[in-house]
Amino acid sequence: MEQINALRAGVETALAAIKSPAELKDFFGAYLGKSGQIQALMKSLGALSKEERPAAGKRINDFKEEVLAKFKAIEAAIEKQELLKKYENESVDISMPAVFRSPGALHPVSIIRKELLDVFAGMGFTLYEGPEIEDDYHNFTALNTPQDHPARDKQDTFYITEDTLLRTHTSPGQIRCMKTMKPPFKVVMPGRVFRSDDDATHLPMFHQMEGLVIDKGLSMCDLYGLLDSLAKSVFSPDTKTRFRPSYFPFTEPSVEVDVSCCECGGSGCRLCKETGWIEILGGGVVNRKVIENGGLDPDEYTGLAFGTGLDRIAMLKYGVNNIHILYDGDVRILKQFKG
Ligand code: DAH
Repeated sequence: MEQINALRAGVETALAAIKSPAELKDFFGAYLGKSGQIQALMKSLGALSKEERPAAGKRINDFKEEVLAKFKAIEAAIEKQELLKKYENESVDISMPAVFRSPGALHPVSIIRKELLDVFAGMGFTLYEGPEIEDDYHNFTALNTPQDHPARDKQDTFYITEDTLLRTHTSPGQIRCMKTMKPPFKVVMPGRVFRSDDDATHLPMFHQMEGLVIDKGLSMCDLYGLLDSLAKSVFSPDTKTRFRPSYFPFTEPSVEVDVSCCECGGSGCRLCKETGWIEILGGGVVNRKVIENGGLDPDEYTGLAFGTGLDRIAMLKYGVNNIHILYDGDVRILKQFKG
């Protein structure tokens, strides 16, 4: 009994000190386990007489049950405490600001490209993409712009060799299409073009979209209808269009196409320089010489052609006044355009 009482004092203090699963385990090992102190007490029964042994054994067993019961109660409390700790660590604070990942957006020029291609696809046009590195013949000569033609000065060209260059417009695609496609056909040619230019509204690289229709008996009226419905789709249904006489070596007659100003609706503002009109396109009836250079008979086939600047349309539509903004790669600006 003395030994049990002495052990009980130690057990009480040890139980009271348990704070963690590890301490719980240590306690079990020290007192209740196979080599624990209560088991040692059991083993010492051998030293007692036969008569004393059963009563002493019962006391030790009762003591063990008593300790085990207390141990179980503490074990349950510690388990509960550990679970609460775990819940606390895993809990989500729903008042925290969320981590926001931008889903990204198409570049404004890509949006315009897509919009235009959609309109053209609806009118039965097919897509063609010519090479960015062109030869002098396709870029100029075949488009009725011979070596000494003053129109060459209008387009400052990046030459690679005397004969190869970065295309200054998408128009050379007209020759390539006429040579490979069977008329009648309607084709659009979007792509990058390059000129030695750099100011608020010009960059050395920009985007154009060329259109070419080859068929029999086409007229300026067909071109007007086509471009008018294009302008209405891209800007707004109440956009007005007008043709102004102009000059390009590859078309005869040639026109420049204006749309009513998308900012003021035609009443006059800074964007349209108080004229109410904004130029967006060049076009015309394909020059007979160009039809010939494309390998077709100009007495049999007529062509309608036009070319427009995608960056320029993007700037007009989204109110961007400096072309550099489109290419500075500032995502704070670019992500505003969702198309
Ligand atoms: N290639 C011309 C330019 O870059 C635009 C153009 C004008 C294209 C008239 C055409 C056209 O197809 O018929 O300024």
